[in-house]
Amino acid sequence: MCGIIGCFSEKDCYGRLLRALKKLEYRGYDSAGIALVHKNRRLHENYRLIVRKKKGYVSALEGAVISGDTGIGHTRWATHGVPCDRNAHPHVSGKFALVHNGIIENHAALRQELCEHGETFLSETDSEVIVKLIDRNYAGDFFAAVRAACARLEGSYAIAVISADHPGEIICARCKSPLIAAAGKGALYVCSDAPALAGEAEFFCPANDGEYIRIAEGKILFYDSAGNEIKKSFLRLPAQIAALEKGDKSFMEKEIAETPQALSDTLKSLHRTDFAPCARQLRGAKRFFAVACGTAYHAALAFRDRAEECLHIPVLCQTSSEFRYRSPLIGEGDVLVAISQSGETADTLEASRLAKERGAYLIAVTNVAHSSLAALADFPLLLRAGPEIAVAATKSYVCQLLAVFYLTAQAHFFKHTRMPVWFFELEKLSETVRAAEECFLQTSHLAKQLSQTFGMYYLGRGQDVVTAMEGALKVKEIACVYAEGYAAGELKHGTLALIEKGFPVIAIATDKKLAKKCENALAEVKARGGFCALFSQYEDVLSESCADFCCRLPSISEPLMPVVSVIPLQKFACEMCLLRGFDPDKPRNLAKSVTVE
Ligand code: M6R
Repeated sequence: MCGIIGCFSEKDCYGRLLRALKKLEYRGYDSAGIALVHKNRRLHENYRLIVRKKKGYVSALEGAVISGDTGIGHTRWATHGVPCDRNAHPHVSGKFALVHNGIIENHAALRQELCEHGETFLSETDSEVIVKLIDRNYAGDFFAAVRAACARLEGSYAIAVISADHPGEIICARCKSPLIAAAGKGALYVCSDAPALAGEAEFFCPANDGEYIRIAEGKILFYDSAGNEIKKSFLRLPAQIAALEKGDKSFMEKEIAETPQALSDTLKSLHRTDFAPCARQLRGAKRFFAVACGTAYHAALAFRDRAEECLHIPVLCQTSSEFRYRSPLIGEGDVLVAISQSGETADTLEASRLAKERGAYLIAVTNVAHSSLAALADFPLLLRAGPEIAVAATKSYVCQLLAVFYLTAQAHFFKHTRMPVWFFELEKLSETVRAAEECFLQTSHLAKQLSQTFGMYYLGRGQDVVTAMEGALKVKEIACVYAEGYAAGELKHGTLALIEKGFPVIAIATDKKLAKKCENALAEVKARGGFCALFSQYEDVLSESCADFCCRLPSISEPLMPVVSVIPLQKFACEMCLLRGFDPDKPRNLAKSVTVE
């Protein structure tokens, strides 16, 4: 979603904003803008706002620097109004400029009311109503005007506002959208998330929902929803975030390469985690619920597969967006496992809030320790995947699988006082995943062969269905190839109709007892002229198959194979993306953190 930044710095404020916006581009990149309070040389007016905003990437803002020590910036992911210069943020009304991340749900009613009072709008965005409200509520007290405007808003927002009447001041508000304050050498910041400040800030402090941040007189101040000043503690920016650099390759390639390290860091952290506080819930649960979105939803499905098999209790798994609106039968005594890399995905947060309201116990699997989801959870289960910047989730997915499998093993222990057998192979996971990199040469050949395809299927049985779905999502998302991930057994029930000469089908077969069934599905594809590729750790499964392309995966205990088999599929998607001329870090229409519904 949109990224917002605010900066107060006597030195290089514009440059700092620009650098942060470049790092925020993973949150949205259909347009970008900056506004600064600029000291006017003309005598009759001391300060004025200068705004530069453009459709496209942040690089469009490079060039002439705007001077000034107080500024805000924005990378947009359009919700209301097409990407164009006019709809780009900052939005201005009178002496105020504003950037916004979120969605104002009552914007239409507010716009109508404002129009009836003679206001005219320059954009189609929901955000412009906020700056108009601030302007109308202003009677000399900047902070009071922002609070009065926020009191009228329904929906989600993190905003940063500057005013030509208040040089040196930035006022921010947070409601269901992430916002942090940060301090670095010679600069104070507010920002939608910490990675934007890599190399710039040393300390940070997240705001909670309903809180305000005010940068004024060279200080960062926090206020509660009633406008009373509150004291908060700042934390050192984690070293991995502070050192975030892409290098020559895309973030996606870098993050795939970091997976073995991410796994071993996550495993160490899981070993250190005290599960005793949730022992009663894990032992006593008659069923689990699991919610997540996108790739994280695939981790939820993998949790379902492993937990049902190990614990013999049902796991009801749903995408977060559907869970909320289906009157879920969740209540006291139930455990909800919510999975989210960012911990800020709006639907997952709302599903979790709903479950908690109904008395369920919330376990949150997240990669961001200071996220809203972690704060909401009864038991946060933290990944140590390190910052993931690429929109496509790779190392975080693999670590999510590790964490939910680990959770399953703990529940098994609390129920049966012993760990499942595969638990003892977790130590080998990182090196097995590293060994999977040997498949990359082959996947690169496969990508060359298939790069011009208009569509493809991914098939699997049992635990491989989820891997098929994740493989398909990845290639759709970054290579813009139409793809579907399916249970191979469903092929004959409709999908087969689309198979014709050369149509590519990728199958994953890591479960020996189901491998023959997967092979049968491939034979049916082959009989209709389709192109078959097969990934398995079993030499005999590969050699006996009819596949045109075979890739031998490194082997580990079967229940852990979903962690390994997805690695070549991630790399394949990345290769396809590059061959098709796309940027893996900027997938069309997508943003890393989906903080709006
Ligand atoms: O931060 P989250 O894990 O909650 O994000 C969920 C999805 O938006 C995310 O996994 C998305 O599907 C990825 N872009 C997939 O690569």
